[in-house]
Amino acid sequence: MIENSKLAIIGAGSVGSSLAYAALIRGSAREIVLYDMDRAKAEAEVLDLAHGTPFTGAGKITGGGDIEAVAGAKVVVITAGAKQQPGQTRLDLAGTNARILGELLPKLVELAPRAVFILVTNPCDVLTVAAQGVVDLPPGRILSSGTLLDSARLRWLIAEKAGVSAASVHAAIIGEHGDSEFPLWSQAKIGPTPLLEWTDEHGKLVFDSTERARLHEEVVGSAYKVIAGKGATNYAIGLSGARIVEAILRDEKAVLTVSTVLNNYNGVDGVALSVPVVVGKHGVERVLDVPMNDSEAAHFRASAEALHQSIQALGI
Ligand code: 2OP
Repeated sequence: MIENSKLAIIGAGSVGSSLAYAALIRGSAREIVLYDMDRAKAEAEVLDLAHGTPFTGAGKITGGGDIEAVAGAKVVVITAGAKQQPGQTRLDLAGTNARILGELLPKLVELAPRAVFILVTNPCDVLTVAAQGVVDLPPGRILSSGTLLDSARLRWLIAEKAGVSAASVHAAIIGEHGDSEFPLWSQAKIGPTPLLEWTDEHGKLVFDSTERARLHEEVVGSAYKVIAGKGATNYAIGLSGARIVEAILRDEKAVLTVSTVLNNYNGVDGVALSVPVVVGKHGVERVLDVPMNDSEAAHFRASAEALHQSIQALGI
């Protein structure tokens, strides 16, 4: 449990509530505030979560429809906004959710001027750029959950295929949290073994180009598959968000693949994309230079271009 740590979650929909649930169970913060403009919904979620706290750590949850309760938070996670409907891409939500963010963010910064802000609302990369235009914060203090979740999906898939623990799989999806994201295969490892050299018991390579293409497609399609079946994704994004919160509140200097505005990075300027970064109490404290082969560098630029177009369309 992290002492003197206040986490505010904006939006008590399925993502915000799951994030609060994950943070309570993981002991990510001492104090959690869940806010939603739909007061009845927020109060009901808070009550339901609070009833379970005898079974969690010492964390406490409060909240409702009063935004002033966010005051003094060290981390603010924004999940409010329209969600992807079946058939929609994340980028389709840009206009609506940029407007919502534009209304909320100045007030949140006023209430929690020293906080690190994590954007979970989609399209999270586009909104990270939009946020820079709305408030004046150091770039590292506004980040988005980006492809941390997609990287987790990839690690799980690799772990299942290789028959190892997902904790032993070091692999990242980088770029947009969306359709143009891609796996950084050249750097992926299982334990100390490069993923590209991983063999089965008979000495046969497991992750050949066909298998890699299948895994890539599976990760990109993951959210669509879940949304088609249950209308939203919530548990895994809740856990991903809680993980980022912990890295900040514990000043972990953890290397996480999250999104922040990149400048002069592999040919990318002024666009937010996920790459491995160091996360600590100041938010993104260092953007790591990751080696990319030619094909990965081309994918990276294409992902930046996809986002650039969406940002331009919004007139940011
Ligand atoms: C996800 O990837 C929809 O962005 C959300 O689960």
